[in-house]
Amino acid sequence: MMSDSKQSASGSAPVRPARGGPRQGSGGVHPIYSPRQTRLRRRINNFFVYRTIRKAIRDCRVQGPVLAAPCGYGWFFDRFRRDGIEVVGVDISPEALAFARTAVNPPMQVFEGDIQQLPFSDGQFEFIVSNRFLLHFEDDFRALAFKELARVTRKYLLVHYDTPSVHEWLRRLRGFRKPDLDLDEQRGWRKRKRKTRRLFYDGDRMAAEGAAAGLNLKKLYYVFHLLSARAYCLYEKADAR
Ligand SMILES: C[S@@+](CC[C@H](N)C(=O)[O-])C[C@H]1O[C@@H](n2cnc3c(N)ncnc32)[C@H](O)[C@@H]1O
Repeated sequence: MMSDSKQSASGSAPVRPARGGPRQGSGGVHPIYSPRQTRLRRRINNFFVYRTIRKAIRDCRVQGPVLAAPCGYGWFFDRFRRDGIEVVGVDISPEALAFARTAVNPPMQVFEGDIQQLPFSDGQFEFIVSNRFLLHFEDDFRALAFKELARVTRKYLLVHYDTPSVHEWLRRLRGFRKPDLDLDEQRGWRKRKRKTRRLFYDGDRMAAEGAAAGLNLKKLYYVFHLLSARAYCLYEKADAR
């Protein structure tokens, strides 16, 4: 996999993986630089999403690495590295991890594992971020994942949620509705996803979800309050040391 990224002479400077072209399995172009990710709208969205997450991390004055669970193909690894935030990643997909290992150079540490049974000890990370993940699953899956994330965090857990927004309300007014997922057509981990596409949370529902795993809602971070559905809920462990 290292052949996907150019090595610097010293071997230590962050070097970008190859850009452009279609994604072709784990030997192809890194998804960070796929045409989809480099569209203007996506770049603006990524910019604000990353800024929101970085603010939460900085507000918490995190010491040591942040756990990205799951990390996908090395989601935002380049930005984290640039800002001096070390990340450890975990993901169930070996293909995603192969990309994650080449997202930055030297690579962030990544591990293969299931979010419901993480390969880490109790309280190993001070801060965990879970992006674009839990909201896709049913209550029972989320409850187990929350318990496991609460076990592995020493203090904070930042979770991505969708919240009611003007944008969504306008879309509904125009009759837009995302069709349900056909689970028979899904493969791998996607088979475990929820059929109905969007689950909107308010603060009370987030607080209840966290409380069941021993987490208190500390603060809500909105990417664009009311305009965008995306929000990040910062939980703090009730018995944080
Ligand atoms: C939509 S992506 C989100 C990845 C990353 N957080 C991001 O925002 O780009 C979902 C990821 O979850 C991983 N995944 C699915 N089920 C998982 C599980 N049970 N445990 C750990 N990772 C899982 C998939 O392999 C995939 O990389």
